[in-house]
Amino acid sequence: MAKPVWIKHALLATLKGQAGPRSGAAMSELGIIEDGSLWLEDGIIQAVGTTDDLALTYGGRSGEAEVVDAAGRLVTPGLVDPHTHVVYGGSREGEFEKRLQGVSYMEIMNAGGGIHATMRMTREASEEELYDQSRKRLDAFLVHGVTTVEGKSGYGMDLETEMKQLEVMKRLNAEHPIDLVPTFMGAHAVPAEYKGREDEYVDHLIEKMLPKAAGLAEFNDVFCERNVFTPEQSERILEAGKRYGLTPKIHADEIVSYGGAELAAKVGAISAEHLLKASDEGIEAMAAAGTIACLLPATALYLREEAAEGRKMIDRGVAVAVSTDCNPGSSPTVSMPLVMNLACISMRLTPAEALAAATYNAACAINRQDRVGSLETGKGADVVLWGVHSYQELQYLFGVNHVESVWKNGERVVG
Ligand code: NIG
Ligand code: FE
Repeated sequence: MAKPVWIKHALLATLKGQAGPRSGAAMSELGIIEDGSLWLEDGIIQAVGTTDDLALTYGGRSGEAEVVDAAGRLVTPGLVDPHTHVVYGGSREGEFEKRLQGVSYMEIMNAGGGIHATMRMTREASEEELYDQSRKRLDAFLVHGVTTVEGKSGYGMDLETEMKQLEVMKRLNAEHPIDLVPTFMGAHAVPAEYKGREDEYVDHLIEKMLPKAAGLAEFNDVFCERNVFTPEQSERILEAGKRYGLTPKIHADEIVSYGGAELAAKVGAISAEHLLKASDEGIEAMAAAGTIACLLPATALYLREEAAEGRKMIDRGVAVAVSTDCNPGSSPTVSMPLVMNLACISMRLTPAEALAAATYNAACAINRQDRVGSLETGKGADVVLWGVHSYQELQYLFGVNHVESVWKNGERVVG
């Protein structure tokens, strides 16, 4: 059993104090404790308070603990990445060059590249190869302060490969320090063998894939986009998933405005993703339904598109989370710190809002808020010590990894 850990003299951003997604002004409430202290033991946060408070209750046990003097540096919950495609085969740097020459993301996909290219490479990869590639990516997430990651299938689009991806996630969740939360995304594209028979693929997915995937996944996601899945097809898939206990998520309004935000509200999705082109009506509907906006500013940058209107969404009462969207096409990054920087720079979130979006609200977007996303007694001891002295500095000094140490379930895994 690991020694207890006593972190002292930290600037703690606890994010504590609210049950459920934060919206509006609550997104700025970080629960700051100056000269703060944490006691981590048995994988759990046992106490949170000022260093003086904890000296009273735990001072007598300091001899048996690893004592960390944060010397005024920032300590936050482990970051949560609520939207990734982290398990995939191969890579697509050739397409990156094509896009820089002016070919669009959808043109590449419609010509059989993009998601289809990764599908072929993922079908070909053995389970072991997929595991090894993805494990390296999770290692890199951890180094960037991320302790919980959602992962989607969706590069198989046949039962065998979708299950292979979900099995790899199950193994990684068990064997890697990061908690990996599985989402089924068989509706990521219509595979070539179903071209012109899109509704048959939807039937096949609902009848043959969903019942099996439901044994391994918690969420069900659809790429609702022109020339991919229509809102009607997306609704059928998400409603069918609900019957198997899968909670809906939607890739919505990424490339064109397509009614995705409205659909997310209608089907009771826990979150809607991307939303670059979401309509005002869609934003209002999400606010009313309590749908979390999971915004991906690194993807917008990488596609050379305007980022989603994060500022407006928060001002209209939508709870905002942010994510890397880690995938081989539109966002090959694992850096949540960069995503927080971009949330400020390209979506005008405040530094406090960006931190809430990458911790507590991100946890809410994958239904893990009872366990992670804030520093509270009884929660998992997932903690990051940053080499900065304020949360503003964390967002201000951009493109740099400020992580000094990471604890996952009370064990030091970085630094
Ligand atoms: O979230 N838009 C659809 N899916 C991913 C990209 C996947 C890929 O290009 O491989 C996304 O951007
Ligand atoms: Fe995505």
